[in-house]
Amino acid sequence: MKNHKLLLSLICLLLGIAPMMGAAPSPAKQSFEAGNGTFLLNGEPFTVKAAELHYPRIPKEYWEHRIQMVKALGMNTVCLYVFWNAHEPQMDQFDFTGQNDIAEFIRLCDANGLKVIVRPGPYVCAEWEMGGLPWWLLKKKDIRLREQDPFFMERVAKFEEKVAEQLAPLTIENGGPIIMVQVENEYGSYGTDKPYVAEIRDMLRKNWGNGVTLFQCDWSSNFENNGLDDLIWTMNFGTGSNIDQQFARLKELRPNSPLMCSEFWSGWFDKWGANHETRPAEDMVAGIDEMLSKGISFSLYMTHGGTSFGHWAGANSPGFAPDVTSYDYDAPITEWGTVTPKYDLLRETLQKYTDQKLPEPPAAKPIITVDQFNVEEFAPITAGTKNIFRSENPLTFEDMDMGWGCAMYVTTIPENFKGGKLKFNDLHDYAEIYLNNKKIGTVDRVKAQNEISVPAMAKNDTLAILLEAMGRINFGRAIKDYKGITNSAELIGYDATIPLKNWVIATIPDDYEVAVEAFTKADKKADNSEKAPGYYRGYFNLDKVGDTFLDMSTWGKGQVWVNGHPLGRFWQIGPQQTLYLPGPWLKQGRNEVVVLDVIGPRQTVAQGLNKPLLDNLNLNTEADNKLQNLAAEKAKNNVVAKGTFNAGNGWQTVKLNNSKNGRYVVITADNTYGDDYVAIAEIYVLDQNGKRLSREPWMVGATSEVRRGNHTADKTIDLQESTYWQSASGKGFPQSLIIDLGSDSTVTGIEYLPCDKSGAPGAIKEYQISVF
Ligand code: GLA
Repeated sequence: MKNHKLLLSLICLLLGIAPMMGAAPSPAKQSFEAGNGTFLLNGEPFTVKAAELHYPRIPKEYWEHRIQMVKALGMNTVCLYVFWNAHEPQMDQFDFTGQNDIAEFIRLCDANGLKVIVRPGPYVCAEWEMGGLPWWLLKKKDIRLREQDPFFMERVAKFEEKVAEQLAPLTIENGGPIIMVQVENEYGSYGTDKPYVAEIRDMLRKNWGNGVTLFQCDWSSNFENNGLDDLIWTMNFGTGSNIDQQFARLKELRPNSPLMCSEFWSGWFDKWGANHETRPAEDMVAGIDEMLSKGISFSLYMTHGGTSFGHWAGANSPGFAPDVTSYDYDAPITEWGTVTPKYDLLRETLQKYTDQKLPEPPAAKPIITVDQFNVEEFAPITAGTKNIFRSENPLTFEDMDMGWGCAMYVTTIPENFKGGKLKFNDLHDYAEIYLNNKKIGTVDRVKAQNEISVPAMAKNDTLAILLEAMGRINFGRAIKDYKGITNSAELIGYDATIPLKNWVIATIPDDYEVAVEAFTKADKKADNSEKAPGYYRGYFNLDKVGDTFLDMSTWGKGQVWVNGHPLGRFWQIGPQQTLYLPGPWLKQGRNEVVVLDVIGPRQTVAQGLNKPLLDNLNLNTEADNKLQNLAAEKAKNNVVAKGTFNAGNGWQTVKLNNSKNGRYVVITADNTYGDDYVAIAEIYVLDQNGKRLSREPWMVGATSEVRRGNHTADKTIDLQESTYWQSASGKGFPQSLIIDLGSDSTVTGIEYLPCDKSGAPGAIKEYQISVF
């Protein structure tokens, strides 16, 4: 025993003097964990001030510039998603290089003194094609996405392993900057399935090691549905929300949990056909100030949104609401990396919470203009044909092994037809329809269209459908979003229905290489005075390079490449009319522009502006409003319920005394609890069993709406409780919300959620419900 003690003290002595003998001190082990009411970084209280940035939305040459802007803003962390479909574009072909070199992006954050939070999905939402899931998963027709489907889980496991191979060496335990890793993403707005979420958690733990701090994010209204006991729970909500209320339930369940808003929405995303969204700087900064004063951690989504280049923009649902290319998000740092008043105000506030003087933001990148130039060289769209399929029934893109782009579906009319309708079941997403080479109509999924009126046709007439796919849905159950004619097409006349069979289908992928090859196949002298759909090419010369905004306002609908770099989608309806063109993708001398336009341009010119056009809508909204007002008139004779809602926040249900069949449901507010406008966050309609009807086929409109700031009528069915319809101030009452259910349904009631801000501004007092 005595000897043993002696040995021990000898060892201690040796250890004690080791440093004096020149051996290196072992580095202090770094750690990050949840402590009592706060996070702990190396054992010390730490408030996460995170900036959400997405590496594929920023040209690689600008990564460090944006990271330094975030540092100068006063953030201490960068939060990012990992985008599965960018890393595995084809099954088993992984790419973590160049623009996809996520480890490099994280090392740059580290080099600039920022910690990192990684959100490796597999699903990420993010207004990104299919929420980050690869389209090729859909080749297995019966796949259940985001569930314990064996094939889905096998592919997720492989992807998560590859991500961890890249990133696990960069965790804080391993001396790197990564402090936390997120399990799945807002699963509560998809379903209730703890076993699935637990399997993702286990996968991450296996790949990243037991030491890694894992968390899951959701909304305050649904986080309990999938909350796992051993994970940290964080809340997502936007500017303007009542912060105490957002954390109230979490505090009840876990009084000692650190509090974090893992997505505090700085602004919002834009969709084609609606105004650019903004949220006031003062409100955003007030929210951050309040959280910091209460020691609440946050991640500002987005701090810099950037651009959904190429075909990466997703689409929102219910309905089909494709996102624009710009992901500016009205964030503090613009899409093109400059400061805004929101940035300055936020920086001032963040400065209050640190003793160290914040560094100055790095200098802005140069901006140039490009004089108008011609984009005239032409190749017809069919010159871009990659493969041709013959099939009795229409095939989807996925059937034809194509992820993105266009397809030409051609068939001959099997018998004489007296005229009527051409109906698709269904058509995703946009098509120009030609009869014997003459355009006879357009089908646009955004407007919930699936048919057009057609004239009489003779046997053997040729019907051609030029179809363009937009981004796959990234939110809700509709993420299983096949492209093309997804099932069937038929002619419906007064006396006959003729199924259309025997299709010849040409795939036209949206690849730059395909576009360039199209020009080699085309007849250069072809007459194109009609400005047909197809490929167009032009050039411009530069003495010096810099960022610019390519003005596409004279073009129809499609995509653009500059020097082979995909800039993204354009569409004449707006609100986005220019595409961000980063300086590093330009060169001195001659630069090439290639346009793929499925409608055809009005003028074959382009130019580089020194400012973007992100808010130029080009729609006939008056016609829309007329329709809404007509419906509201009709509603007066079809009232099925009248009553008074309670004041205050929270869901309320109205049950009809008698069920009623109809396609339209109109909710009319005769007045409110004092405000001169109505606000509704979410609406459901109840079916004959008292269950919520699916909102997928719905279109909604209102007698008036605030067209900016997330307040249009469609916000009542966007699943987002933090966005709401607001009628235009000063328009008086009554105000109505008009729901087109898409087809006749039995209606037994409605569920209504007023605005989630405290006191429920705009809450309806007396209501009428009509069904017809
Ligand atoms: C959710 C998702 C994000 C993003 C935002 C809206 O919170 O988690 O990926 O889609 O909504 O911008």
